[in-house]
Amino acid sequence: MIKIDPNKSPLSLYIHFPWCEKKCPYCDFNIEVNKKDGDEELLLKAIIKDLDQSSHYINDRKFASVYFGGGTPSLVSVKIIEQLISKLTNEELLQDKCEISFELNPKEVSEDYLNDLVDAGINRVSIGIQSFDQKTLTSLERNHKSEDSFNAIKLASNMKSVNTTIDLIYGIMDQNLDSLTKDLKIFCDYDIDHLSLYQLTIEPNTIFYKKELRLPSEHLVESMEFEAKNILNKNQLFQYEVSSWARNGSQSKHNMNYWMYGDYLGLGPGAHSKVTTKDNIKRMVKLKKVASYILDPSKTVDTIITPEGYDLDLAMNLLRVKSGLSFDEIKNNNIFIQDSFVEKIEKGIKANLLERDGLKATDMGYKFLNDTVNIFN
Ligand SMILES: C[S@@+](CC[C@H](N)C(=O)[O-])C[C@H]1O[C@@H](n2cnc3c(N)ncnc32)[C@H](O)[C@@H]1O
Ligand code: SF4
Repeated sequence: MIKIDPNKSPLSLYIHFPWCEKKCPYCDFNIEVNKKDGDEELLLKAIIKDLDQSSHYINDRKFASVYFGGGTPSLVSVKIIEQLISKLTNEELLQDKCEISFELNPKEVSEDYLNDLVDAGINRVSIGIQSFDQKTLTSLERNHKSEDSFNAIKLASNMKSVNTTIDLIYGIMDQNLDSLTKDLKIFCDYDIDHLSLYQLTIEPNTIFYKKELRLPSEHLVESMEFEAKNILNKNQLFQYEVSSWARNGSQSKHNMNYWMYGDYLGLGPGAHSKVTTKDNIKRMVKLKKVASYILDPSKTVDTIITPEGYDLDLAMNLLRVKSGLSFDEIKNNNIFIQDSFVEKIEKGIKANLLERDGLKATDMGYKFLNDTVNIFN
């Protein structure tokens, strides 16, 4: 039996805006490319209805963070965002100092747009820059140019009233060490405290999956990771999760809540939730198609976390936290640990994949994180 208290787990809110200008050939996110006039308003209504019908998952809690993700939220009018944030504020659903993040594609970044977002209540922007190198952007078939990447980072770093993070990708066809090094150095030239650095993954169901791609060798990818660490550490940015780097105090509250096994409510087409109820912990996914979601926003496909599956579910998240967690931190975050979890930690220690105190992967355990996580299976 998993012992849990539905009101004690911190709660975040994720809102999905599915529309994109075009589908990137590597992207496996839930997106659509055919946004028509009036669609935004219909989706807004459905999201509000969905929120109203989710109060039994929220209970007495307030959201510690809100994340507008996609898709491309920056294709949606700021008025829609304003209405959603007003609704959350009016219903007193936001904690003090709630982190409110918003994803943008570089093409939509302008000074006016950023100011409008701040006026609407956004205090953290996440820009999908991917690279400053035109050759790399062309390999990714992105719809923005190198000059858009430069323009976006410059404008965002000048905005002192918001926190900024950017996404960069490495391990791309024809990308060499020099190109990634330049990308990272350009990033470090700006006053930005957070970076998401993703290795390109080739997901089934994407156009890249069906192509013969000339990806960099494993050796080159390792050199890229080594150089990235050197450059970022020299600039006081430290890895705190598999793909996340930050200066002290600038870690993403929203993402940390996922990895610390907090609850999150997902609204919008295909959005994922993890909620603690008085009976169980469950993961839920909304209907994926925009039209279906609008017709029935509260419909979900649910998976209950069983005691047998709980250790793995927990390890998949907690082990991503680079600094690890002491048992006190685990307790203070109201994370329930079964006896079987402690036994599996012992196995991990013997295999040199886990450190002796609390839950922390060794250097080797972090490098081979899948193997380490699988100990908890
Ligand atoms: C789903 S996108 C949403 C933000 C925005 N639409 C964009 O593309 O910039 C979030 C981030 O996921 C990353 N991403 C998406 N697919 C990926 C893949 N197959 N491999 C690595 N990173 C990926 C990109 O860096 C992207 O910025
Ligand atoms: S813009 Fe972002 S969300 Fe849209 S298809 Fe490209 S990677 Fe995916």
